Amino acid sequence: MHTETRPSLTRWFKTMGYRQISPWYRTSKDTVDDFNTIGKNLKILKVIPNPLPFYDLIMGFYERPSNRCALRGPILSTAQKIIEVGVGTGYLLGRLIAATTPQQEITAVDLSQQMLDTAQAYLARKKLLSRRVLFRNGDCQDLPWPDNTFDLFVSSYLLDLLPENEIDRAIYQLERVLKPEGCAILITMTTELDGATRLAKPLMRLMNECYCLGYDRGRWNPLWKFLFAGYAPHCRPISLGKYLAKSSRLVLTYTKLSRVSFFPVRIYYVRKKSG
Ligand SMILES: C[S@@+](CC[C@H](N)C(=O)[O-])C[C@H]1O[C@@H](n2cnc3c(N)ncnc32)[C@H](O)[C@@H]1O
Repeated sequence: MHTETRPSLTRWFKTMGYRQISPWYRTSKDTVDDFNTIGKNLKILKVIPNPLPFYDLIMGFYERPSNRCALRGPILSTAQKIIEVGVGTGYLLGRLIAATTPQQEITAVDLSQQMLDTAQAYLARKKLLSRRVLFRNGDCQDLPWPDNTFDLFVSSYLLDLLPENEIDRAIYQLERVLKPEGCAILITMTTELDGATRLAKPLMRLMNECYCLGYDRGRWNPLWKFLFAGYAPHCRPISLGKYLAKSSRLVLTYTKLSRVSFFPVRIYYVRKKSG
């Protein structure tokens, strides 16, 4: 008994925080209703007429530093056609608009119409709406643009909510719609902890492990829904590098670790090879 327990404990410890688990729903389409009805089941905070801003306060607040940190590089000023997929409430989109010029066109895509409307309203409030920003309801697995359309593809906290087979399909679409020498900036919760300091790494592994414990099969969803106005998180830590490596045309040019509160997040800068 003693000798059987030890190897499995050792194995568990070695993989702690590096495990990628499956989402608690079957397909990403199943999540859209959640995004469309955030807060509808709200029990204690009925005073909040539209709980979406509440969602943005909780989720957006923590995601903002990593989203801000990601928007870097010369591609931002040279890309003529930009696409952001999974825009959510529009914070990163606002930063993208502010970081580019009126000559650059930005297409904002989301599968949830409520998120698109919210992003649009947010940008209107910030006086960032213009004809160069186009909104489109669409699925990252089936983007309705021809091959080689965009110079820059941006996506934050979308790939990490997709089931495994959908991640492959979304990356295929990303590669397809990017022009040769086009670039992508991708942000996900991560199990890839290289570059973390010796002090931070054990903490990040522990944070991932605790998160996955509650995320697995939606175990802690009742708690999250109670705390977050009827919303339960969809993203979980993934190894995006493993999926990107399957493409012969996508090259990882640079990657860095960031975080959402104490949860590790990775930013990937990717280039599509020509030819
Ligand atoms: C966790 S939110 C992230 C939003 C935003 N990018 C951010 O950083 O805060 C994920 C977004 O992806 C959208 N989404 C989910 N599945 C999708 C799909 N298959 N295609 C496009 N968007 C999708 C959701 O509606 C939601 O707005």
